[in-house]
Amino acid sequence: MLGRFTARRVAAPELAPAEPEPPVAVIEEPKRPEPEPAPAAPAALTEKLLDAKVRLHRRLIEEINLSAIEKAPEDEVRRQIHALVTQYVVGERIALNAQELEDFVLEIIDEMTGLGPIEPLLNDPTINDILINGHECVYVERAGILEPTPVRFKDEPHLLRIVNKIVSAVGRRVDESQPLCDARLLDGSRINIAVRPIAVDGPLVSIRKFSKKPFNLKKLVDIGAIRPQMAEVLSAAVNARVTLIISGGTGSGKTTMLNALSAFISDKERLVTIEDAAELQLQQPHVGRMETRPPNIEGKGEIRQRELVKNALRMRPDRIILGECRGEEAFDMLQAMNTGHEGSMATVHANTPRDAISRLEQMIGMAGLPMTVSSIRGQIAAAIRVIVQLQRLSDGKRRVTSISEITGLEGDILQMQEIYRFVRTGTADDGSVQGHFQATGIRPRFLAELTARGINIPGAYFDPSKPL
Ligand SMILES: Nc1ncnc2c1ncn2[C@@H]1O[C@H](COP(=O)(O)OP(=O)(O)OP(=O)(O)O)[C@@H](O)[C@H]1O
Ligand SMILES: [Mg+2]
Repeated sequence: MLGRFTARRVAAPELAPAEPEPPVAVIEEPKRPEPEPAPAAPAALTEKLLDAKVRLHRRLIEEINLSAIEKAPEDEVRRQIHALVTQYVVGERIALNAQELEDFVLEIIDEMTGLGPIEPLLNDPTINDILINGHECVYVERAGILEPTPVRFKDEPHLLRIVNKIVSAVGRRVDESQPLCDARLLDGSRINIAVRPIAVDGPLVSIRKFSKKPFNLKKLVDIGAIRPQMAEVLSAAVNARVTLIISGGTGSGKTTMLNALSAFISDKERLVTIEDAAELQLQQPHVGRMETRPPNIEGKGEIRQRELVKNALRMRPDRIILGECRGEEAFDMLQAMNTGHEGSMATVHANTPRDAISRLEQMIGMAGLPMTVSSIRGQIAAAIRVIVQLQRLSDGKRRVTSISEITGLEGDILQMQEIYRFVRTGTADDGSVQGHFQATGIRPRFLAELTARGINIPGAYFDPSKPL
């Protein structure tokens, strides 16, 4: 993902006269516990079952008409496979109790009709991300924390077979000549695949699961990602077409926040969304959704975000919602925001609001137009009003860590004021982050626009002495 590294130049220390050299501080590596073996069923049984499953799977493929299976009612498929598996297990003398047999049948069904060993992970609503590092190592993310799972693939070809099953559904293929692929699963989940030679130790698969019921703003308040007053200010701003950007690191909840805030756009507006993989689930009745397209096998036919933003402008949108702004399209997006599409929204991959601005500056530079830094900054200052910063803190919780307002340009310097911030005060014994949200005491300038639209936000919301 796009990380930003700032090289810091350290001033060379002046030569001090004959001072003894201070002892060199040894920076110790953090102590890491020995890698724990992943929680697994007794190895011999797992191995034997995996082996049996793969053999059985091959045989079933030979015996059963796969395309008929996909059309047949689920009960019927289950009944047939159950009978075949039982027959096989008895014939091969594999010792399984009733529950194990039932699990085995389920796994075989998943294997035949779904995505093999990861199917149960895809069906588990508490899992957000599935990360496969080669056929023997599968991690998941639950509640913001990564954990290993006992899920295994039989071997690398088994994993590759499943990977290709996934990408073939979108007309793609991964192999040595095309080792990278982005795709979307049928359920809307986003998937990225890297195979050898790019992936040194075997296929790397990263899946961001599609939330069937994404968090709304109220839910984000309930789980402590934001305080109600802040949510009210943001939702009023969205409603009043105050243009905002959502900034955050990878997996910090940007798309979720964009989705939640979009609920406050009026139903009367026409929206056009642009994403790499359509993840947004806008509630409005009038939405046109567009997705970029990667180049085909010959390297042709790519449709990039920039083209889609330009195209969107010909579609008479009231607002454009850009899933993630990460390149040359930033220029066209800002133009749109400045020319009658106020209230458009986008996310940016950055760690602080200031960082988000520098990222945007860089991205506008990518458009290849002869613009000076001050004219780029002028464009940003005129287009964007609010930056919502998100962060996944060390306890795995995602929070809004800052809401800042861009107030203009003074000379070459972009003026920004923070309205709310999350103040971290410590870490509890269990590792959870302690802290509170705070108003800084600054009343945002966009309040005037809200008032003009008849939305009144109580002054107390911005009073730092009042708890949020
Ligand atoms: N406040 C939150 N609390 C708990 N889980 C959250 C919260 N916000 C988002 N999530 C979950 O975290 C995961 C990542 O969220 P999301 O896709 O919004 O992140 P993102 O910043 O857009 O990620 P990426 O950088 O990969 O696009 C999702 O599964 C989402 O449901
Ligand atoms: Mg996202």
